[in-house]
Amino acid sequence: MPLSDCPRRLWREVTVFDGLQQLPEPMAVLVEGEQVAGLWPERDFDPALAAGAEEAGRGGVMTPGLVDCHTHLVYAGDRAGEFEQRLEGVSYEEIARAGGGILSTVRATRAADEDELVATSLPRLDALLADGVTTVEIKSGYGLTLADELKMLRVARRLGELRPVRVTTTLLGAHALPPEYAGRADDYVALVCEQMIPAAVEAGLADAVDVFCEGIGFSPAQCERVYQAASTHGLAIKAHAEQLSNLGGSALAAKYGALSADHVEYLDEAGVQAMAEAGTVAVLLPGAFHVLRETLVPPIELLRRYGVPMAVASDANPGTSPICMPSLMANLACTLLRLTPREALAGMTAHAARALGLPELGRIAVGAPADLCLWDIRQPAELAYAVQAGRLRQRIFKGAITHAR
Ligand code: NIG
Ligand code: FE
Repeated sequence: MPLSDCPRRLWREVTVFDGLQQLPEPMAVLVEGEQVAGLWPERDFDPALAAGAEEAGRGGVMTPGLVDCHTHLVYAGDRAGEFEQRLEGVSYEEIARAGGGILSTVRATRAADEDELVATSLPRLDALLADGVTTVEIKSGYGLTLADELKMLRVARRLGELRPVRVTTTLLGAHALPPEYAGRADDYVALVCEQMIPAAVEAGLADAVDVFCEGIGFSPAQCERVYQAASTHGLAIKAHAEQLSNLGGSALAAKYGALSADHVEYLDEAGVQAMAEAGTVAVLLPGAFHVLRETLVPPIELLRRYGVPMAVASDANPGTSPICMPSLMANLACTLLRLTPREALAGMTAHAARALGLPELGRIAVGAPADLCLWDIRQPAELAYAVQAGRLRQRIFKGAITHAR
């Protein structure tokens, strides 16, 4: 559309968190079409700069649209029974080894068709959107057959067509060993590498691959085979690593140029160094930390010292983080993991976008996509400080106001 026909919208007197920091004074923000076209301190603002623009809002805090860079949003069933078991002292690993956990969600997800999965997942997506998310990554990993993994990825893509949100998809075929492959893990990894990855790429259904590198998941050698196949097929790489033990999964992922290593409670200094050298983002998942009542905090100080960017995500899933409220994650990242509010917000915007290989997102800057949130709060830190739904005044997606009250 020619620039003159683009809608021009202007926000005045907003406190801006630009994805990395709070700007020092109130700002005027101009959006033209799908992009941020102007960003001026109020005291320098000349209305002639935004001639013809409609005033869309005044006051409040503007942040980039939130980027939830790690979710398992598509699944059927629930695991409330396991929650009770865990409260009685049974561990996540014990439940998994007894055939529950991820495999219980696999049974329910295999039994659901695409329409059912869309219907059961949409309310969760809507909850994320109502809390300011404009980009969400969705993993497969509860199908564990070629057909069921592709089904999950198609559902994820459909969710992105049904709602105004960017969806990126990640093939997590190596999430758990399905029962029909018991004792034949290497054969299952061959299925992931030789069938799932090529088919997902061929159908344009995956942006990245992920693995669960863990005693109850897959060994580093098996994960490496998945990474080799992903690299051959041009997929980005991510990892669930160092969540329950230290297998060196983060360093392995970094060796393959991974976008991110996620969880990382058990990450050691060698792993941090490898991530720093590769530019791999550490994705912190305080919801899973909280729900599993973990006590070992990721090595935040080391990540700071080595300059590894830290993202924060919901990990929304039926087992370890049945929570679809990103702003609560900001709070938990501060209270449980000791991030500063500024780090937590950068973790849900600029650094989360980097963890998806989309560094143009998660920022408020001239030329950046106009995915924005306007919050009814006085300062950005309040998003992490208070846990309260309903503070989002406007959610702006590709320049259009999609949520306003
Ligand atoms: O990120 N750790 C592995 N995967 C998920 C949990 C999946 C599940 O329990 O259903 C996680 O914590
Ligand atoms: Fe996860």
